[in-house]
Amino acid sequence: MAKTRTYSCAACGATHAKWSGRCDACGAWNTIHEEAPLSQGPGRQALGAARGTALPLTDLKTHEMPPPRTACGVAEFDRVLGGGLVPASAVLVGGDPGIGKSTLLLQAAAHFAQAGLRVLYVSGEEASAQVRMRAQRLGLEQAPVQLAAATALRDILTTLEAERPDLVVIDSIQTVWADTVDSAPGSVAQVRAAAHELTSFAKRRGASVIMVGHVTKEGQIAGPRVVEHMVDTVLYFEGERGHQFRILRSVKNRFGPADEIGVFEMTGGGLAEVTNPSELFLSGRGDPAPGSVVYAGIEGTRPVLVELQALVAPTPLAQPRRAVVGWDGARLAMILAVLEARCGIPFAGLDVYLNVAGGMKISEPAADLAAAAALLSAREDSALPPETVVFGEISLSGALRPAAQTENRLKEAGKLGFTTAIVPSGGKPGGNGGLTLNRLGDLTAFVGEVFGAG
Ligand code: TYD
Ligand code: MG
Repeated sequence: MAKTRTYSCAACGATHAKWSGRCDACGAWNTIHEEAPLSQGPGRQALGAARGTALPLTDLKTHEMPPPRTACGVAEFDRVLGGGLVPASAVLVGGDPGIGKSTLLLQAAAHFAQAGLRVLYVSGEEASAQVRMRAQRLGLEQAPVQLAAATALRDILTTLEAERPDLVVIDSIQTVWADTVDSAPGSVAQVRAAAHELTSFAKRRGASVIMVGHVTKEGQIAGPRVVEHMVDTVLYFEGERGHQFRILRSVKNRFGPADEIGVFEMTGGGLAEVTNPSELFLSGRGDPAPGSVVYAGIEGTRPVLVELQALVAPTPLAQPRRAVVGWDGARLAMILAVLEARCGIPFAGLDVYLNVAGGMKISEPAADLAAAAALLSAREDSALPPETVVFGEISLSGALRPAAQTENRLKEAGKLGFTTAIVPSGGKPGGNGGLTLNRLGDLTAFVGEVFGAG
């Protein structure tokens, strides 16, 4: 019988059929080792035959109380967590370097400490004095947060066992290194080992652990993705460097809804909560201009109004430019194709730019119709009627599909003084939020109705 060998990479855990000097999966050199098959080790019995301990089994009826949550009082942060911090949980906060993760977590740590938790803040990137200076600048120096500057996982765990805090903030997971792992700090193996140990500590001692992870562009340092599966909650802190708005978005949450957002504004005194994001994203908007459309979106459980801006101009290039900020480039290509194929409106020979104002990122398909409206309005150089919001999904046939939570979108638009909404026909009947609805079945009807052409 042929002996089957398996090989696995020590850096990323990928398995390979044969040995090679470099791992295809993670690109690391000299990390691939042969693994002994389980049943062939000396003195090993095949697992199925071995006598283990029978596990105690339970049914699904719950006798547990819902987890007690601690809210820190920063409503935008608490909501993204699903209503507050849950004990014995691990949270990952990812984001680009310099976006404001340390600022956010220092503020959150201080508020949790003031709410009565024992909080330990471990900084691996900045010296304690730097963190203290930031706390002073943010006016938080009185908060009972305990601070340590450390990177050695062994020391951190020893401290945690001695101090038994309710909340530990690790800034950042890429700086923490375990002496049991034979690779450089920041490597996949190190980041995984550190996240695993810290998560185990959280589960074992009923503490909450919040880990910061930098999003990295190149492969030298492991990004937050490699630990996403280990933690209970994954939050991303995003925003454009040039804008002051920052959005904290939950992409995974075992204790609450995913896709929830919290909106902050970076000010000289730290991050300030933005309780009405629509007002902020629409501020500074004058009379409707060609190419500008207000989209009524939903982020998590919250309606958010944002402005989509398009610019369409003749191109000197053989291959026209398609640039999009805050939206999906593939979706833009799809909308342009549908406009051309179903409505006979070509964009060949034209550069197309689409921007979501204010540094917001939109991923909902319901933004299709607003994007199409912005593109058409820019191409025809004609503004949409004033006080109008637009939303709806476009299918490849050119038909318009109703969006989820239509009523909430309309209500938010009504609150901000909009009077008309262009929406897909069909869908559940519901309130109109006091707006006049212009219900349309397909994109051709939209073009005819709004731009008076077929
Ligand atoms: P920081 O929290 O250090 O980012 P990260 O931990 O994600 O790398 O924040 C970095 C930026 O925030 C920095 O360029 C300065 C700015 N900032 C303010 O504008 N106001 C403030 O009060 C603070 C503390 C930082
Ligand atoms: Mg930082």
